[in-house]
Amino acid sequence: MSLLSSVVRRRGPLKARLALTSGLLLVAASVCAEPNREPDGWADGVELAALEDLNPDPHILEVNLEAAVVTLPIWSLRPPTEVYAFNGSVPGPLIDLAAGDRLIVHFTNNLPEPTTIHWHGLRIANEMDGAPHHPRPPVLPGERFDYDFVVPDAGLFWYHPHVNSSAQVGYGLYGALRVRASDDSEAAAPEDEIVLVLSDIGIDEDGGLDDPASGGDLGTLFGREGNVILVNGRWLPSLKVRAGITQRWRLVNAARSRYFKLALPGTTFTRIGNDGGLLPGPLEEDELFLIPGQRADVLVTPDVANGTVQFLTWLPYDRGFGSSELRTEQLIMRLELTDDPPGAPTQASFSREIAPIDVSGATPVSMRLTEMMDADGRLVLGINDLPFAELEPWLATLGETQVWEVTNEMDWDHPFHLHGFFFQELGDDGEPLAPLSWQDSINVPSRETRRIAVVFDERPGMWMFHCHILDHADAGMMGMLHLTEP
Ligand code: C2O
Ligand code: CU
Repeated sequence: MSLLSSVVRRRGPLKARLALTSGLLLVAASVCAEPNREPDGWADGVELAALEDLNPDPHILEVNLEAAVVTLPIWSLRPPTEVYAFNGSVPGPLIDLAAGDRLIVHFTNNLPEPTTIHWHGLRIANEMDGAPHHPRPPVLPGERFDYDFVVPDAGLFWYHPHVNSSAQVGYGLYGALRVRASDDSEAAAPEDEIVLVLSDIGIDEDGGLDDPASGGDLGTLFGREGNVILVNGRWLPSLKVRAGITQRWRLVNAARSRYFKLALPGTTFTRIGNDGGLLPGPLEEDELFLIPGQRADVLVTPDVANGTVQFLTWLPYDRGFGSSELRTEQLIMRLELTDDPPGAPTQASFSREIAPIDVSGATPVSMRLTEMMDADGRLVLGINDLPFAELEPWLATLGETQVWEVTNEMDWDHPFHLHGFFFQELGDDGEPLAPLSWQDSINVPSRETRRIAVVFDERPGMWMFHCHILDHADAGMMGMLHLTEP
């Protein structure tokens, strides 16, 4: 299986998965190590589960996805853990297709509670977005639903439930969705590529999952973080790498609350993309920063000595009281340098035209991220002093450009996410920030204001926006944008 899955990965786009069924010839053709490639099986210790494509059309990926309770050995220092999983794995299988392809997901909910699948970052029709009741009801236990849409944009996206989200994501329901470019815009990318789903999970002495309400209101206010950081569902997994070879990492932060600030001591990252695909050009970064929900597309060229081990390291980030005090770095993935002769790095020759959103004439919208108490003295979070259940939708008409000014009135940062549309971040002067990029999530630091511009040019409906610390969203920090015909 590992050989086959590496064939799938290496042959890249689309119908590579046909190799699973059709053949040894393909296997034979790609086992010979190429001079500028990682060793065979380099990523076997980190590989995501694959999916069987039920559809012979090369531009349709048709799959079965089932959410169910399973018991998995998540943390080797504890007994196996009963989790929620898509197709029996945490994270769920990698959904892999190309821009313009159609995805059909036959979804079965075998959980003991209702759920949905939200396709985070995908610009798809409102009725496929997975926000409960907007417009479709959740999928009840034992029921099925077919998600069916075309994926318009290249990039890394992800999927997760949107009912009882903090608990369900905390129990293990999330997966990555990679949309490869269908043109030659990524032709210069290194062939050795891996998708890394970052998350955490709360596991107790007996291997049981933490109570999703642990810590009460204080737990909610802080946002619950698991005690074990996972990379592709594994605790401290390993990659086998050759010095000097450039690999491409596609990362997503799928944790329900945890921020990821990452370093690889001795090596810098060349960032080429984020939420909405490629950046205008590569950026050198010493550290990667991903708020919950965010993605990063980076090139990594380990160039330390053969035989050594490099550790991808999680660094504490101050997102408010309790997030960085008394916390230490954590090693989350090993890069084991093999004895192979060093290779030659791939130059990052990427570029993309991104036009700034024209904000002249844009409708200004401002909102405040707030906390309050309900009549029983319990914590409620919300927008403009009201929780989600009491908020009227915000309004926009098709074709309208809006500038949202989001002010965080709390003592903790909020990762702000809008469904269904990419936006651009604006500076204090109201001009798009350089480098231009497309995002669907942005950090709004404690007691600060951030501005975004968004063009609501298509796909009417009810679109959610919320804090992606899912404990905050569930406590009421969500809103709805009603996009209508003019
Ligand atoms: Cu990942 Cu409502 O979003
Ligand atoms: Cu928040």
